[in-house]
Amino acid sequence: MTVLIQGGTVVNADRSFRADVLCADGVITAVGAGLEAAKGATVIDAGGQFVMPGGIDPHTHMQLPFMGTVASEDFETGTAAGLAGGTTMIIDFVIPNPQQNLMEAYRQWRGWAEKSVADYSFHVAITWWDDTVHTDMETLVKKHGVNSFKHFMAYKNAIMCDDETLVNSFTRARELGAIVTVHAENGDLVFRLQKEIFEKGISGPEGHPLSRPPEVEGEAANRAIRIAEVLNVPLYVVHNSCRQSLEAITRARNEGQRVFGEVLIAHLLIDDSVYRNEDFEFAAAYVMSPPFRSKEHQDAVWRGLQSGNLQTTASDHCCFCADQKAAGKDDFRLIPNGTAGIENRLEVLWHHGVSTGKLTMNEFVRVTSTNAAQIFNIYPRKGSISAGADADIVVWDPEASKTISTKTDHQNIDFNIFEGMTVKGCASHTISQGKVVYADGKLDVERGAGRYIDRPVFAPYYEALNIKARRGEPVAVKR
Ligand code: URP
Ligand code: ZN
Ligand code: ZN
Repeated sequence: MTVLIQGGTVVNADRSFRADVLCADGVITAVGAGLEAAKGATVIDAGGQFVMPGGIDPHTHMQLPFMGTVASEDFETGTAAGLAGGTTMIIDFVIPNPQQNLMEAYRQWRGWAEKSVADYSFHVAITWWDDTVHTDMETLVKKHGVNSFKHFMAYKNAIMCDDETLVNSFTRARELGAIVTVHAENGDLVFRLQKEIFEKGISGPEGHPLSRPPEVEGEAANRAIRIAEVLNVPLYVVHNSCRQSLEAITRARNEGQRVFGEVLIAHLLIDDSVYRNEDFEFAAAYVMSPPFRSKEHQDAVWRGLQSGNLQTTASDHCCFCADQKAAGKDDFRLIPNGTAGIENRLEVLWHHGVSTGKLTMNEFVRVTSTNAAQIFNIYPRKGSISAGADADIVVWDPEASKTISTKTDHQNIDFNIFEGMTVKGCASHTISQGKVVYADGKLDVERGAGRYIDRPVFAPYYEALNIKARRGEPVAVKR
């Protein structure tokens, strides 16, 4: 299939310029002025629109078995919803049960993901430790294109990783040239605070943020950062929601440590007042971890994104419907943690970030696509409008507007946390692997069309970096 996107302005992370974009056989074949398409090609008139790399959502949980239930969005519906919002690739998580063999869990998730309609990849969580985990990490890196390992520092008595496991896994990742990622909350503290709050008689969703204050997140972020510093492994901290974790990341980056930070679109825009709503269904729909915070913390994470100390935006798309959230009707500790957002990430960030002047269009591309591609080592195949890159593209209409609603979105969940928000600037077309999969509000996707994307390790890059740094030489290294 050949697609010609004509008359638009290409927006990459580094610059914007007027150009046509030609796609054939799944890749971008040319970017330039006055391109012509062969007979039969699909031509998209992008006059007045922006042509940007498709979004990469580096943090989703499709059909995740979690807290006694399974997330309602599966890989097919979830990747389709992403395409409707301009996101053309996800990085989801393989999360083995403690004691579950890593390779078995990996194969399980690969099987579930086969029905994806857009490209995907996996971070693999380390939830326990023994010699088989040590060996399987190598197999995953060397044979299966996994270059990132995730660690949950929260969810005690479930998937939480203790410090010993963190140290073992960070050490192994360093040997293999992989990056480590953490969900930073002190799980022991959360467990204790949850108990105290519940015993005081607070059983509703308002207990959720009380049991997970910012200090709990800041402590864990700082601990992970310092462990990574000692073990000399690059670290990516997911869903930073507060000033404390941002400060820990900023401090480490100022000291020259390779630490990256992600912020969820919802943490930028939703505050903790949602938990005080008296309607259980409403408040429970917002229960996710870390919880939504006060304005002070929202301002902090916006500043983190603007300054470049937080490099990526994600959705942490993890859908539970009202009947699933009802499991915690009498005890907030049992409300499945998770909210949706894959479809709205780009439009919400454009409206509140680019249109307000907080971010330039190029910064928008960086934090929705290019930085994730670079950090997780799939750039420039992904995250770039350039000849040779995958033809994963979003054509963006800055004049289009819509009001977000669960009635019209494509997400498989009965609640949209951005319900009623009117945004200006939306995807008019999404191109995935060179095919137009979303146009004029309609999806045209194929079950199973999504491909598993291998992500090579960083070893040569980091080795060179470390050797040069030790010698005191400049550390600019070609990848
Ligand atoms: O509450 C959340 N974020 N649920 C998904 C699992 C996680 O912690 O990322
Ligand atoms: Zn998390
Ligand atoms: Zn998550």
